[in-house]
Amino acid sequence: MTGPCHSLFTNASLLAAALFPWQTPVDRPTGPVSACVTAECHGDVLRGSALHAPAAQRRCQACHQLADAAAHRFAFAAAPRRLCSLCHVQSHRTFVHEAVAEGDCTGCHDPHGSDHRLHLHEDPAGGLCFRCHPAEKFEREGHVHGPVAAGACVVCHESHSSWYPDLLAREETDLCLLCHEDVVDRLARSRHSHQAVVDRACTVCHDPHASTHPAQLRGGAPQLCFSCHEHEPIRRLVETSKHVHGAIRTEESCTACHLGHGGMLPKLLAEPLMGLCLSCHDRPIETADGNRLADMATVLKNNPDHHGPVDRANCSACHNPHASANFRLLSQEYPEMFYAPFDLQNYDLCFSCHIKEMVTEESGTGVTGFRHGERNLHFVHVNKETKGRTCRACHEVHASRSPFHIRQKVPFGTGGWEIEINFNVLPDGGRCAPGCHEPQEYARNPDGGALLPAPDLKVDADQ
Ligand code: HEC
Ligand code: HEC
Ligand code: HEC
Ligand code: HEC
Ligand code: HEC
Ligand code: HEC
Ligand code: HEC
Ligand code: HEC
Ligand code: HEC
Ligand code: HEC
Ligand code: HEC
Ligand code: HEC
Ligand code: HEC
Repeated sequence: MTGPCHSLFTNASLLAAALFPWQTPVDRPTGPVSACVTAECHGDVLRGSALHAPAAQRRCQACHQLADAAAHRFAFAAAPRRLCSLCHVQSHRTFVHEAVAEGDCTGCHDPHGSDHRLHLHEDPAGGLCFRCHPAEKFEREGHVHGPVAAGACVVCHESHSSWYPDLLAREETDLCLLCHEDVVDRLARSRHSHQAVVDRACTVCHDPHASTHPAQLRGGAPQLCFSCHEHEPIRRLVETSKHVHGAIRTEESCTACHLGHGGMLPKLLAEPLMGLCLSCHDRPIETADGNRLADMATVLKNNPDHHGPVDRANCSACHNPHASANFRLLSQEYPEMFYAPFDLQNYDLCFSCHIKEMVTEESGTGVTGFRHGERNLHFVHVNKETKGRTCRACHEVHASRSPFHIRQKVPFGTGGWEIEINFNVLPDGGRCAPGCHEPQEYARNPDGGALLPAPDLKVDADQ
């Protein structure tokens, strides 16, 4: 084999350099040489624990051909993008990496040798890909996925070509389970799983690389959630309702109450309903419009007699947790003011559980215990064209310390005053002794005992 490399040093300074390499700069040989790699010449070419076979065998000319001996100029044996295919026939799968398609093999492989297997420029699981896909692009996002931060792109991507789009190493629905099998294990143990996770649409919610949101979520709630729950009534509700729950306007938004994946509770709730509500409503909350909402946890603690649905921890029996056209997120109509002209519809909330006849029947014995003889005192107080008392004039809606959830106090006047009601149950009725007028009594069977005047429970706020 006669290649361009056989030994002939013609240059005196080269000879000197060979003898005293630490003293003299090396000049290039101007004739054919046999050893391209010597201590003086191209010693760095064959460095590394993984050498490319033809280079290791010093068949330099397989790739470099002497073009001009006098100028020591070499040309590649083929156009750079076809050089490797002189010897390597590559078959590609459907989707080919552009760097490979372009023949930019040396973007990843050192043609001579390196300290990484397959004489790659870098460890493929430790930053090789950052040579062209800069790490900063991912780091900028803030929340970088573990393997991406480590530069281990090849756990998810093929480097040459793939059967799957985006050069994925396997089907997208299987990809994440390579490392996060625990996510599906936990699903298997959950009683209520998010269908999206069961469908393994992991990358619809999570960016596989990095994002500005925790857990590499693609976006913040609620937008992320609405990307799928697009036609769900809840989207319209939240986007068009007069009253939107403050919880949804917090940064966590939907995920303050719902788990991304699921758990033991229906509707993917993060906690049992009441605990969930009280996780925020355990302190007074200042609303956007300047109201101060009661600290419900304390209200419930100080008033041990809880109204039926509250006792069943069912806050959503009356409140829509998301949004509502009604004040205080009530799921059905309930008058907003202390007094209201009577309209049965305004009490849909209460009469979804209680019988409406208690305010529509003027007399009788079957519809309410709040009567004097046959005179229905609920009707008397509530069913009025003007200044009808709303239920809140007499009842607490969440919890109380009195029978029938009668309030301890009612507002009085406009100065924020409150007066005591002092309600007592009597064997055949009840009695109230507010601080502002004579005590009033009612008896369901007045003929059986002393006849009392018809009660006029005036507990006026503006008396
Ligand atoms: C498989 C083909 C191939 C073989 C074999 C090969 N080279 Fe190279 N060499 C290249 C390519 C391609 C480049 C261009 C550098 C790049 O793109 O990374 C190069 C560049 C060089 C360079 C200039 C840049 C540098 O890395 O310093 C020198 C010097 C060199 N080769 C020397 C050698 C010597 C000496 C041998 C034999 C021991 C050799 N090459 C064998 C492909 C080859
Ligand atoms: C002159 C022929 C020749 C050329 C040109 C050539 N190679 Fe090679 N290459 C070989 C031989 C021979 C081997 C050793 C084959 C083996 O061990 O299976 C090899 C091995 C490799 C390997 C390691 C394969 C393995 O499975 O261990 C890689 C990677 C490689 N070459 C990349 C390149 C790249 C990139 C280029 C272009 C810059 C190139 N080769 C150009 C001959 C060549
Ligand atoms: C983006 C980086 C990258 C580019 C560009 C690239 N390779 Fe590779 N190549 C790799 C990695 C990483 C491996 C190891 C793959 C593995 O272990 O699954 C590899 C493996 C190889 C192998 C050995 C295994 C096999 O597939 O036979 C050869 C040969 C090879 N490459 C040749 C080439 C050639 C030729 C080109 C240009 C057409 C090229 N590579 C372009 C990164 C690259
Ligand atoms: C030599 C430069 C270079 C290196 C190194 C490189 N790439 Fe690329 N890669 C490109 C170019 C160019 C494109 C096409 C333009 C783009 O999408 O950025 C591309 C595109 C991609 C794509 C998008 C594919 C598609 O179908 O849209 C993926 C995925 C990819 N590279 C993964 C990798 C991985 C994994 C590595 C490391 C093994 C790597 N790249 C290393 C140059 C490179
Ligand atoms: C955990 C798996 C995983 C890892 C690790 C990973 N990717 Fe990806 N990559 C994907 C998936 C899945 C896609 C498909 C597009 C999507 O879902 O965003 C993708 C798409 C891409 C694309 C094309 C689309 C785009 O976003 O530009 C490029 C380029 C890319 N990845 C480069 C990289 C690089 C570079 C690394 C390493 C720094 C890397 N990937 C690490 C899973 C991964
Ligand atoms: C090669 C293994 C590997 C693969 C494949 C992988 N991950 Fe990861 N993932 C990790 C590691 C490592 C962490 C970091 C663990 C930690 O910080 O506790 C992580 C963390 C996460 C986190 C939690 C981030 C946080 O801030 O708590 C999410 C979400 C995640 N991965 C989603 C995905 C998705 C989606 C896929 C599929 C596209 C995927 N992972 C594929 C290894 C992997
Ligand atoms: C509907 C959106 C959604 C889908 C689909 C989804 N996730 Fe998540 N994921 C989340 C949310 C939200 C969080 C953070 C809050 C939480 O833990 O509930 C999270 C947290 C994580 C975490 C970190 C906490 C943990 O539970 O370990 C990992 C890892 C994770 N997801 C992986 C995956 C994998 C793997 C898939 C696909 C099988 C997937 N996710 C599908 C929304 C989703
Ligand atoms: C990839 C699409 C997708 C995304 C994104 C998504 N979901 Fe879902 N979600 C579904 C599917 C599919 C179902 C099951 C169909 C159904 O019951 O309506 C479901 C069901 C639910 C359920 C249970 C409904 C029920 O009646 O039991 C809740 C709650 C839920 N999603 C909340 C969320 C929240 C909160 C987010 C944002 C963090 C979110 N979803 C993001 C697809 C998605
Ligand atoms: C304050 C807690 C809370 C927040 C914040 C919240 N939800 Fe809910 N969500 C619930 C409760 C509680 C239920 C169950 C309702 C029930 O019991 O009737 C529920 C039910 C659902 C359902 C099932 C639909 C149905 O009619 O049963 C979906 C879907 C849902 N939520 C999506 C969302 C989305 C999307 C967001 C963000 C816009 C969100 N939720 C924010 C508490 C919340
Ligand atoms: C993540 C914290 C959080 C959770 C959990 C939460 N809330 Fe709220 N809630 C708020 C905030 C903040 C406001 C005040 C919003 C405003 O500015 O109007 C509020 C307001 C309210 C209001 C008054 C709304 C109005 O328009 O006047 C009601 C009623 C209410 N929440 C009920 C509930 C119920 C029922 C639950 C459980 C399903 C619950 N909340 C869970 C934060 C929360
Ligand atoms: C029986 C129906 C009902 C149930 C069940 C119920 N609420 Fe209410 N809630 C109401 C009504 C009605 C109002 C408006 C009270 C008013 O303005 O007189 C209200 C008002 C509120 C307010 C605003 C308080 C304020 O100071 O204005 C909060 C907060 C609240 N509820 C939270 C809860 C929580 C938490 C639960 C579960 C423990 C719950 N509610 C259960 C009917 C109910
Ligand atoms: C989801 C069903 C439901 C709704 C809505 C409801 N209640 Fe009740 N209510 C009950 C149950 C169950 C009881 C019996 C347990 C108890 O004493 O709290 C009850 C009891 C009462 C009592 C005490 C009755 C007694 O015999 O001691 C009063 C007063 C009352 N509710 C008033 C109201 C008012 C006012 C509203 C409307 C703001 C209302 N309720 C809405 C279910 C409901
Ligand atoms: C003027 C005060 C007052 C008003 C206003 C009032 N209640 Fe009552 N309510 C009472 C008293 C007192 C009792 C106790 C009756 C008894 O002794 O059995 C009672 C009893 C009840 C009971 C227990 C069943 C029954 O009828 O005896 C329910 C349910 C009830 N009220 C619901 C309501 C609802 C709903 C409203 C609003 C539409 C309302 N109340 C308005 C004073 C009032």
